[in-house]
Amino acid sequence: MFYPIAKKIMFACDAEWSHNFALGSLKQLAHSPVSALWRQTLPAKPVTVAGIRFDNPLGLAAGLDKNAECIDAFGQMGFGFIEVGTVTPKPQIGNDKPRIFRLPKSEAIINRMGFNNKGVDYLVENVKNARYDGVLGINIGKNKDTPNEQGKDDYIHCMRKVYLHATYITVNISSPNTPGLRDLQFGDALLDLLNSIKNEQLDLQAKHDKYVPIFIKIAPDMDLIAVNQVAQTLLQSKMDGVVATNTTLERAAVAGQLHANEAGGLSGLPVKAKSTEVIRQLRAAVGKDLPIIGVGGIHDANSAEEKLAAGANLLQVYTGFIYQGPDLVKQIVTSL
Ligand SMILES: Cc1cc2nc3c(=O)[nH]c(=O)nc-3n(C[C@H](O)[C@H](O)[C@H](O)COP(=O)(O)O)c2cc1C
Repeated sequence: MFYPIAKKIMFACDAEWSHNFALGSLKQLAHSPVSALWRQTLPAKPVTVAGIRFDNPLGLAAGLDKNAECIDAFGQMGFGFIEVGTVTPKPQIGNDKPRIFRLPKSEAIINRMGFNNKGVDYLVENVKNARYDGVLGINIGKNKDTPNEQGKDDYIHCMRKVYLHATYITVNISSPNTPGLRDLQFGDALLDLLNSIKNEQLDLQAKHDKYVPIFIKIAPDMDLIAVNQVAQTLLQSKMDGVVATNTTLERAAVAGQLHANEAGGLSGLPVKAKSTEVIRQLRAAVGKDLPIIGVGGIHDANSAEEKLAAGANLLQVYTGFIYQGPDLVKQIVTSL
């Protein structure tokens, strides 16, 4: 009952203001009696993927809690895992506002945030201070002013900083809002990046006596040939898994709607079929063993099942959660 009212108020306000207000409130109130409003205990649906045990397969997708400020509150909502970030080595302010737009007719969002975040040191401090003891993914990126040729230095810098604090790390090379970032998904640039990341992971494992799996997050805007190439490179470089998918640049599904032509990545219902198709193609290309986290347009139990049927081992939500709140987590986890 609480979320429909909160949503009514927030949807009457600017999207980014609402987002910041909601996160600020969750952060402040996570350890107060008010947290009873979103706290829920869900049936255990344990799965083990990439050597990690998850209480249930539904996670919070990256980008909602970029600075890891609300881990405890999201944990209280019953997610099986939480992915924070994308975080970059240095803090950065992101693109000019406005940069988030709601398309309610399609339960969709367009965003061009541009990796606004307070930097990896700030995120690590927040993770250290959190009480949450579930599975935590930390999603890392590169600063906007770092040229792609030096991009791997940014990823490696972040890996070193977060390694001891993450259950798994996601390498985000698929945001459409950092110019040129998606070029890292292809050909020699991808192989070179992933080989460097693998070497660093093995060095960190030896140093800390702890193996932290690495997932690579990819875009939905790829044809079959590109998906197959990515799949082969993931296998060749021995990555631990893949997150599919990020937001789409395509607009066909929302043509004519208010904000449909805003620049940025489109998420929610309009990306559902595309992301499911990429998961299906990936699964066919990588075989049965490589873990896939399926994300894109999950908004009910059926769409969650569709992603699993296409080959995903784990699931994440972002936009569906904005439109439906913690009840969506309950609905999906209970049905699985
Ligand atoms: C406002 C907004 C910000 C996002 N920021 C990030 C981000 O920082 N890093 C990332 O990997 N994905 C980010 N995403 C993408 C989501 O994690 C997810 O992959 C995508 O939205 C598709 O899932 P959905 O349809 O459930 O939203 C963002 C999405 C939205 C709507």
